[in-house]
Amino acid sequence: MKPETFFLTDRYPELGKGPVPLEPYVSPEYYQREKAQIFKKTWLQVGRVEEISQPGDYFVKELAACDTEIIVVRNKAGQIRAMHNVCAHRMNQLVYDKCGHTRKFFCKFHGWAYDLDGKLTGVPDEDCFFDMKREDYGLAQVSCDVWQGFIFVNMDPQPAQSLAEFMRPVYGEVEGYPFDKLTCGFQWTSVVNCNWKLALDAFQEAYHVAYVHGRSIADAIDRSEGGSMRPLDVVCGDLHRRLSLAGNQKSVYGNPKAATSGGAAAEQALAESAQTRPIAAAALRAAIGSAKHEFPLDALPKGVNWTNSENWLFDINVVFPDFYVSLRPNYCQAYNFRPLSHNKTLFEGRVYYPEMTTAGGRFFLEYMKVALRDVLLEDMSTLERTQRAAETGAKSHMILQDSEILVRHGAHVVDRLVAAAL
Ligand code: FES
Ligand SMILES: [Fe+2]
Repeated sequence: MKPETFFLTDRYPELGKGPVPLEPYVSPEYYQREKAQIFKKTWLQVGRVEEISQPGDYFVKELAACDTEIIVVRNKAGQIRAMHNVCAHRMNQLVYDKCGHTRKFFCKFHGWAYDLDGKLTGVPDEDCFFDMKREDYGLAQVSCDVWQGFIFVNMDPQPAQSLAEFMRPVYGEVEGYPFDKLTCGFQWTSVVNCNWKLALDAFQEAYHVAYVHGRSIADAIDRSEGGSMRPLDVVCGDLHRRLSLAGNQKSVYGNPKAATSGGAAAEQALAESAQTRPIAAAALRAAIGSAKHEFPLDALPKGVNWTNSENWLFDINVVFPDFYVSLRPNYCQAYNFRPLSHNKTLFEGRVYYPEMTTAGGRFFLEYMKVALRDVLLEDMSTLERTQRAAETGAKSHMILQDSEILVRHGAHVVDRLVAAAL
């Protein structure tokens, strides 16, 4: 056992160190309370500004935990707006597509038309209605704002906090990360039969890497601190949480700056992996010098790699409640764990890389796409089994070690908010 004073958990006495109850992972009633106390009241990430870059571009998101579906659109003035996808006449679903470009939204039931701000602008046979005022029958608006290019919505018409106030306490010093130099390289969507917290938990600790990822990326583990992947540091805020990790710089996956920086970083990454992982090494060699932008480590905002580790691998960032962003010097993963029911989760994962300017660079991206797909499948391999096992009732609590502190913090924050309503 480590000396008591070295436990990260000691910094957060409010979290305790005891076993954590399983009821929040298996109870339909608890999920109903989460919907009311969390999902209908907080900021939820729904996309990025690049997805709707032109006025008239829109996408539609179903938000089961908020019992609604929303349209997110860029209006004529270039602002991003969100509204419920519900016609104000007799409630038909207004937009049927998942995304598109339009001048107006036309309801397919009786032809009512709305502009890009949701204002009612056209009503067939309008003079047959009784004293109807158009301004009373626009689309129901949803609070919407943008942080670092990520679009967030909030079902509360008057959110208790602005998005900036929500993000700043934990992520203020991450602002300035070069999100705008990255494009969405690849993405996956999957419905997983498990609770949303159980899915998220598998991504907010690195204790599992040596085992679940034993055959894929376990060579990326920095072994200097012992066998498993202990955090460099953690931050547990009022809602959000972060964890920084070191990696083995002599591996392709563990040295994230090799592909864009080349030089000494690439030599270090290739020193051993050329023999042990020849395909990964070949992909890396093909990519060197191909990224459209440079990503010097000293240009990163100080909240990224905040311990200034020379062996830094990436930071895990969990934006409450269900948004995970891992930040590396030159690429990032943005995952949503969106609840569909108490034991069903919609996973939406996007990986953002810099554009590659050569065929070799694009080959590297294809290689990373397949490599990360395998890693994700490994992560997902435990989820449905764990959910089914938790639902047996054989155990009522789980036990967590110090490196799993983000799991403990996540459960603690949800429980605090859910209990506040009782
Ligand atoms: S329900 Fe949309 S126009 Fe009638
Ligand atoms: Fe994992």
